[in-house]
Amino acid sequence: MDILFVSAEVTPFSKTGGLADVAGSLPAALSSQVASIRVITPLYGQIDQKQHSINSTGISGSVSLGSETLAYTVHKSVATKGQAETWFIGNERFFKRDGIYTLPNGAGFADNNQRFFFFQLVIIDLLDKQLLTPDILHCNDHHSGLLPGLVKGSARSIKTIFTIHNFLYHGHFSPDEAELLPPVLQNMLTLTQWENYSALLEGIDGADLVNTVSPGYARELINGSGIDEHSHQHLRMAEPKFHGIVNGIDTDYWNPERDSYTPFHYTALDLTGKRLNKRELLRQTGLDDDLETPLMGSISRLVENKGFPLIIKLLDDLVALGLKFIFLGSGDPQIAQQLREAGKRHPGRIAFDESYNEAVAHLIESGADMFLMPSRFEPCGLNQLYSLRYGTIPIVHLTGGLGDTVVDWSSEQGTGFLFEPYTVKALLRAVKRALTVYQAKSQWSELMRRAMAQDFSWDRSARQYIELYKKMKEMPQ
Ligand code: GLC
Repeated sequence: MDILFVSAEVTPFSKTGGLADVAGSLPAALSSQVASIRVITPLYGQIDQKQHSINSTGISGSVSLGSETLAYTVHKSVATKGQAETWFIGNERFFKRDGIYTLPNGAGFADNNQRFFFFQLVIIDLLDKQLLTPDILHCNDHHSGLLPGLVKGSARSIKTIFTIHNFLYHGHFSPDEAELLPPVLQNMLTLTQWENYSALLEGIDGADLVNTVSPGYARELINGSGIDEHSHQHLRMAEPKFHGIVNGIDTDYWNPERDSYTPFHYTALDLTGKRLNKRELLRQTGLDDDLETPLMGSISRLVENKGFPLIIKLLDDLVALGLKFIFLGSGDPQIAQQLREAGKRHPGRIAFDESYNEAVAHLIESGADMFLMPSRFEPCGLNQLYSLRYGTIPIVHLTGGLGDTVVDWSSEQGTGFLFEPYTVKALLRAVKRALTVYQAKSQWSELMRRAMAQDFSWDRSARQYIELYKKMKEMPQ
């Protein structure tokens, strides 16, 4: 089997969220089980080509977008143990700018639809020219949602799988924008109830198989919870070809025994290093330096659905309970403002780093005691998995992938604290339960060890993807 894995972001080259981590680690995990797997992604201006040894392949060409002819170049980095071979599509106008999807102030680029139309048309051009000859095209999220239709329109024998990482982002485009696309694809598009098109729904309709990143989220999507009626119809129609496979993590990169970002390493048997990391984290973030009070970490895009409305309402009460907080992330300016204000009200108790910084993220995972992730919904979630591996106990809402990966604490079992329903009261109850266990030192150490013993490496999930790939290969043309 020859697989081409398409993603708008890929760790370590470009990242805004979990999609990048999956695109950076799943293909490498699959590489030993398929004949060939390549990743393809845009060459954004911010990618340091020297640092990542990205070189020109000498391949170039052009595609038509409406009446315009636009040139592209192709670059690549070689496969390593932890990274599949990656191809990068270059174009000055669309990709050579700061930011992946947005301006520094968070506003989306006005030409995002054209940018990803172009990206997908270049992939089709490379297939047409047989410069890439995959059996299976693995598409991810709306940025590659038009590829299944484009492949069908060209009567190629390539099979397509479409993975939904987050149903919130549709990649809507207008009928005017649709006219930029090849006529054969235009004829296949379905108008939404908003009189526009959805690249996400096109991907779901067009692909041979569809999956999302946990069985729990797959169930929620099929049941239509929190989803508009129009989209739900598409999901229901896709049910026979719909699957849920929980994400794995890169267990070399996220490894408390070897983490290159953290000053002190530790194991489940000797947790001394974790305490030293906590001291370092408190020092770096300017929080009060006493090591006994529990420290709660949060690494998240600042968006409503990650649970910030609950967090903001509860913060004062939680500080009063004796907790300290470190928040890392950027996004919604209003949420950022509220976190800054909370930090001013509680100096030494709440720290807020408004950025995305890999080093700080690793230090939070390795130095905090608890990890707060009260997402309203969560397709899979990766930070709770990193947290488990680092013995940083997750407090999560019982939804989607969070419910599939964290087991609620009891004295004999469990790896974290779950709450339900999605209310301030239920979250507060979960935090109070966590604090009670934290105070009972031996129980807490036991809980940390249990969390650290969980296996979320890609092995099992990669096997499930291979099963889907095999199933696709056997499907009639
Ligand atoms: C998206 C989802 C997240 C998931 C990630 C990778 O970011 O919001 O839940 O873990 O994609 O699949």
